[in-house]
Amino acid sequence: MNVLVIGNGGREHALAWKISQSSRVERVFVAPGNAGTASEAENVDISPTDFARLIKFAQQNDVQLTIVGPELPLAKGIVDAFGEAKLRIFGPRQSAAELEGSKVFCKNLLRHADVPTSDYQVFRNADHATTYLKDREDVPVVVKADGLASGKGVFVCATRAEAIEAVKRIGRNKEFGDAGNQIVIEERLDGQEASVLALTDGRTIVTLPPAQDHKRAYDGDTGPNTGGMGAYCPAPLIGEDTLHLIEEQVLVPTVHAMKRGRRPFRGVLYAGLMMTNQGPKVLEYNVRFGDPECQPILMRLQSDLVDLFEATVDGRLDRLEPLRWDPRPAVCVVMASEGYPGSYERGFPIRGLDEAGKVPDVKVFHSGTATVDGQVITNGGRVLAVTALGSTIPNAKLQAYTAVKCIRWKGAWCRKDIADKAMASGA
Ligand code: AMP
Ligand code: GLY
Repeated sequence: MNVLVIGNGGREHALAWKISQSSRVERVFVAPGNAGTASEAENVDISPTDFARLIKFAQQNDVQLTIVGPELPLAKGIVDAFGEAKLRIFGPRQSAAELEGSKVFCKNLLRHADVPTSDYQVFRNADHATTYLKDREDVPVVVKADGLASGKGVFVCATRAEAIEAVKRIGRNKEFGDAGNQIVIEERLDGQEASVLALTDGRTIVTLPPAQDHKRAYDGDTGPNTGGMGAYCPAPLIGEDTLHLIEEQVLVPTVHAMKRGRRPFRGVLYAGLMMTNQGPKVLEYNVRFGDPECQPILMRLQSDLVDLFEATVDGRLDRLEPLRWDPRPAVCVVMASEGYPGSYERGFPIRGLDEAGKVPDVKVFHSGTATVDGQVITNGGRVLAVTALGSTIPNAKLQAYTAVKCIRWKGAWCRKDIADKAMASGA
């Protein structure tokens, strides 16, 4: 069969790479893809939100399964549009994608389903939010824009003054446009973060091994928030018992609540969790694979990914054979452009990719790259996601950084401490 992957990041490169390993797959297309996906699959120059052209392409090229990487097309209803055209597509419908598209919807659902999460208040008006902050004790809070804001609409505040400033930016200055029409103010939680991803067809849940992201730009979890500077899988922080607890207290009640609310969830449910002293609490839900978490997770998957996607789309996850995993852990290091997550230049030639690809047990996924005149150049803030397997997490880390050292371009940088947290928790 032919498969279409939608998106252009490291996550989509990993998806295309894994899908092309399936014996049942003939052609893999990626829209729009990057230089990395072009070597694994066929790039198609169509935007992820141009549904009409994507549908036409799928019809004309006998695409039997489409996989959506990023959240924006999901929030805009790509799954509904493909469904109306009788095309099979993996991901939640627009009504279920609200779980990521609206933090207010998500928090209200969590509250009603009794899923552990931080206390919160919702405001439609910046003045009311400011009055609330002034009237309460000066405890740390997190201020969030309701809608999608590419991860930038979240302000983790240490003081009341910072929180009032965040309300101003979201609610008055409208820095995130309509995404700031509602504001969530929630209790700030302490602990380590982890990502637990599960596939669900709306009834059955297949949980993937837990992963951990590194959201801050610089070593020691300092600096501004990013899309994620590295990840590893599995995360020893979450043992088997904790994972069961997360399934029971978080994933199952969420999937049931979505079904009861007539928004059955089909696709990847990604719980961003804070492991607090009182147990795991949900920080947010995403309705897609995480980037970069997807890369080390898929590096370890031995089962056919297309079987898993088809079972999800067709509502028969209950009959799927248990997934097989490489017992070795995987570590992914993101290499970024100078200036990221702020402004950065594009177009620098990247050298050493072949050499890096020869390091044993390493796969160099491309996040923001393009090909110009046969030369791979930088074309994004996050440029590469260098991913390695190893017999232990320290070994996987060593392999990944050995490959990173082979790669050069002007201004390239990465965090040096990816996976150190795993080692601290006893890997
Ligand atoms: P979100 O987009 O809601 O996941 O928020 C992005 C990041 O902000 C999370 O990965 C956390 O690092 C941080 N964050 C969000 N909510 C909270 C919270 N209630 N307490 C502490 N940190 C938070
Ligand atoms: N790695 C975080 C995300 O994909 O949202």
